[in-house]
Amino acid sequence: MTASAQNSNAQDIDVGLLAPTPRHPDSRLETDWLFLYEKLPPNQWLSADYIYKTSFWLSIHADIRKRQHTLTQISDAYHAGDIEWSEYRSQISSRINQYIFKLHQHHNIEDTGYFPQFIRMYPQLKAGFEILDRDHVHLDALLNELQVLNSRLASNNTEDEALSKQVHQRLINTSELLSQHFTDEEDLVIPILGLN
Ligand SMILES: [Fe+2]
Ligand SMILES: [Fe+2]
Repeated sequence: MTASAQNSNAQDIDVGLLAPTPRHPDSRLETDWLFLYEKLPPNQWLSADYIYKTSFWLSIHADIRKRQHTLTQISDAYHAGDIEWSEYRSQISSRINQYIFKLHQHHNIEDTGYFPQFIRMYPQLKAGFEILDRDHVHLDALLNELQVLNSRLASNNTEDEALSKQVHQRLINTSELLSQHFTDEEDLVIPILGLN
């Protein structure tokens, strides 16, 4: 191998090592959209210089992730036989309503306020925000299904294991999409908040 070929290989490896990597293993974010993420990587988001600009967004996501986790725990406890139907219903039903309400409220603020503003600031990130918009549409459909199932649950005094399994499956579907959505969204949005 010639010296120039060796150099070229070394450069390729360097570029590969230096390229910013989004956090989610199935991230949809393209490398071209990560120029701000590169300037403000996740290990600095909560540092003293940035926390006052970034924490409100991260804490909303943390709150929704916590609610999601609690719902899954209650559902798991029922399916493991640790709690009875009546306790399962009383614990999960109102929490699902609050969870759906919080998510709709959060997406609405993003769709009508923040995302259009971010696209005006960084038109080159438009395609990234369109992915997040489509996630919201997909999440809305899942949440509507969850709402219908939860209304049936709230009015059902008789144990209905099939219904509880449907609720569980919708919670899993929502959780998987939310995990990808929140992570990609944070990788795009938090550097914008921190650096402006
Ligand atoms: Fe979002
Ligand atoms: Fe969000």
